[in-house]
Amino acid sequence: MIDETVFRGTRLCIVGNICRDSKTAPISPDVRLFQDGETPTESIVETIGGGGANSALFATGLGAETRFAGKVGTDWQGKMLEHTMRSRGVESFICRDPEVQTGNSLVINYTNGCRHFISHQPNNYNLNFSDIDLELFAKGGHFLRADVWFSEQMLAGGNAQLLKAAHNRGLATSLDLNWDPYWGFAPETRIKARKEAVRQILPLVDMLHGNVRELNCFTDSTDLTTTFQRLEAWGAETVVVHMGAQGAGYYCRGDFIVEPSVSVRKHVNTTGSGDLLSVCLMLLHDRKDIQYGEKLRLANHIVADFIEGRRQFLPTLSMGPDYS
Ligand SMILES: Nc1ncnc2c1ncn2[C@@H]1O[C@H](COP(=O)(O)OP(=O)(O)O)[C@@H](O)[C@H]1O
Ligand SMILES: [Mg+2]
Repeated sequence: MIDETVFRGTRLCIVGNICRDSKTAPISPDVRLFQDGETPTESIVETIGGGGANSALFATGLGAETRFAGKVGTDWQGKMLEHTMRSRGVESFICRDPEVQTGNSLVINYTNGCRHFISHQPNNYNLNFSDIDLELFAKGGHFLRADVWFSEQMLAGGNAQLLKAAHNRGLATSLDLNWDPYWGFAPETRIKARKEAVRQILPLVDMLHGNVRELNCFTDSTDLTTTFQRLEAWGAETVVVHMGAQGAGYYCRGDFIVEPSVSVRKHVNTTGSGDLLSVCLMLLHDRKDIQYGEKLRLANHIVADFIEGRRQFLPTLSMGPDYS
């Protein structure tokens, strides 16, 4: 059985979101929340948010050499986020743009396990291809495009340019589909156009990632078999599937294997489990000598430790030193 030493010497390059997350301890999903008043909670913790930034912290925490590119404002919050990423060993290719404010997300965790994000992230919405220093790829490794839905400019061609640039430099690529914030409430034509923009780049993606709901919604399908057929027809040949308490799956050209989860007794970390699982598989993408079942088993163990709070990859933010 493989263990975490397999991550030593691996490399991951990431482009994605970065912001400040303020997370509440679980509160009751009561109608009171919609009325005038106040709801006490046991803690409100500030951490680094953004799928891309979190994936970078997972990778560096697993021992991989990690590079992150994204955008922040020139405000103190952007400086604090970049400082914290660097202090965790992430090599920063973050662009500082005086025109944008660094974003925030309020993460409301409920006692029933659901969560709600309230977010304002001008820095991430305004990411451009020209903000990304392609030196990011200079040392090789695997490339992850995280948070694909957030910047209109990137959807309109920037993502394709970026994935091509990674391939041209010999990097294999991953894309995490996640949930498009527009799904469910934007006009149908808008949703279709956005899905189409991501479909177009699937031939440039070596490994696609998402949970069952996200993958089905993206393909307008209700079952995974149809979902895989459609994804493959659009150019995505391998898919890592996050299956919650059921575990994790790996699809490759007609074969689908599932490894059951490692059971957890308490949920300390409620966000980021899918990102962590996928990072494990990206770091091992080149290891053709290790079977996918074995890779998934290791990943499920690491994620269970994270969910139960035995491992902390995401630092708590503090005012700390002067970030100027
Ligand atoms: N209730 C659970 N019990 C055990 N493992 C879990 C549980 N929920 C998630 N996991 C682990 O975390 C991984 C990703 O979580 P999931 O919730 O499916 O992803 P996402 O965060 O993308 O929705 C799963 O593949 C599994 O390994
Ligand atoms: Mg996810």
